[in-house]
Amino acid sequence: MTSPNVGDSGHARTRTLLILGATGDLTHRLLLPGLAHLLATGEGQGLLLVGSSVEDWDDDRWRDRVREAFASAGRKGELLDGVLADTRYQKADVTDVEDLRGLLASCEPPVAVFFALPPSVTARACEALTHVELPAATRLVMEKPFGTDRAGARILNRLVTRLVPEDHVHRVDHFLGKSTVLNLLGVRFANRVLEPVLTAEHVESVDVVFDESLGLEGRAGYYDGAGALVDMIQSHLLQMLSLLVMDAPPTLSALDVRDRKAQVLRATRIWDDDPVGSSRRARYTAGQLDGRTFPSYVDEPGVDPSRNTETLAEVVLTVDTWRWAGVPFRLRSGKALGSPRKEAVIRFRPAPKIPVGLSGCERPDRLRISFGPDRMSLDLNVNGPDDPFVLEPVTLTADLGPGELSAYGEVLSGVLNGDPTLSVRGDTAEECWRIVEPVLEAWRKDEVPLEDYPAGSHGPKGWPS
Ligand code: BG6
Repeated sequence: MTSPNVGDSGHARTRTLLILGATGDLTHRLLLPGLAHLLATGEGQGLLLVGSSVEDWDDDRWRDRVREAFASAGRKGELLDGVLADTRYQKADVTDVEDLRGLLASCEPPVAVFFALPPSVTARACEALTHVELPAATRLVMEKPFGTDRAGARILNRLVTRLVPEDHVHRVDHFLGKSTVLNLLGVRFANRVLEPVLTAEHVESVDVVFDESLGLEGRAGYYDGAGALVDMIQSHLLQMLSLLVMDAPPTLSALDVRDRKAQVLRATRIWDDDPVGSSRRARYTAGQLDGRTFPSYVDEPGVDPSRNTETLAEVVLTVDTWRWAGVPFRLRSGKALGSPRKEAVIRFRPAPKIPVGLSGCERPDRLRISFGPDRMSLDLNVNGPDDPFVLEPVTLTADLGPGELSAYGEVLSGVLNGDPTLSVRGDTAEECWRIVEPVLEAWRKDEVPLEDYPAGSHGPKGWPS
């Protein structure tokens, strides 16, 4: 057994978080601030942080980057200071076997390797790792999209599970680390009053909507090859859907939760098996939003207009189980939209019989879980304050806690504690591609028109928002 590293801080370093792609935007904007949140809660004792990329950086420049990112998270403390003092940078080409060997040999095991890299580079790095003896208990952490189609995801799954066991692979979907998404578990399974009515007998339809005001934000290199369907629906929204409709797991262990999610995703497919009639796509044109002028998507730097990449996507799905068959699930996500809306809305069927003599009840009951501001609300009909025989709508609301950790803090907590509950299991990653593939295929063949909408609007005319 190797003896633990003792860093400049004087503390023993007993495990490593190795970030590949350490000089990139993801590391700076999300990963390091998430780590700061985690360390501030007291988790991550003994952690050695090693950054690596092909850039010619040195320890000081890297340490400045970490310091800045920790400061942006607004967190301080002894653990953060220690990690900062001992962190180091090592230049490496992650597709080169010798470089990877040297990098891993310099880390204190066990090592969590975070691939903060584009998927194609991650795949090449994994290929190179097959020639390297990995330290015991290595964990591999990879970002979405996992593969670029179902066949690619399967190949990547085979590759990574040649390196480490499946429960040591953390396929990150940071929505699973969002506290509001996790709040679905409490709302659904800790209340007698809600769960029994979440069935096709009582629910008319479900919407999962994530409309953003953000535009491309300089991410053409990735986004133009993905589009809204792959960027948001294939990953985040299907994950949210699975938590919203899965049966109650007996425990929140990785096995129970991920089995339940996988079960419903296996039963999910395009409504009516009709990808043309059950999907829409659109792309933003120039417009004004929050006082900013947005150029047309096709004029954004790095965009290739001939790719026909959509910035707004909608699909309707069925979850073909006894509990949900017949209920349409509409998943929608888009960019550069005015009045952003991020929520899951469960719309209930009308009451079977309103007694004659009561009037005015028009609005369906709805349960709404909003993601930012994090809130749950229930639309009901009650007797009006003036005339008790005239019904009026009311909304009961509860704010849901934002949680102590950011989504990436939560993700890293799972990685460092060796708990893959909040990461996407390999079979599920493949299922999510299987679900959207008929739509991708129909769009490739141009069987669904690519509509447009001005940035700052609610989407194309005639679409429900
Ligand atoms: C990312 C997508 O995964 O999630 C982005 O690539 C999107 O396009 C983002 O804007 C939304 O997540 P959050 O947590 O930033 O609201």
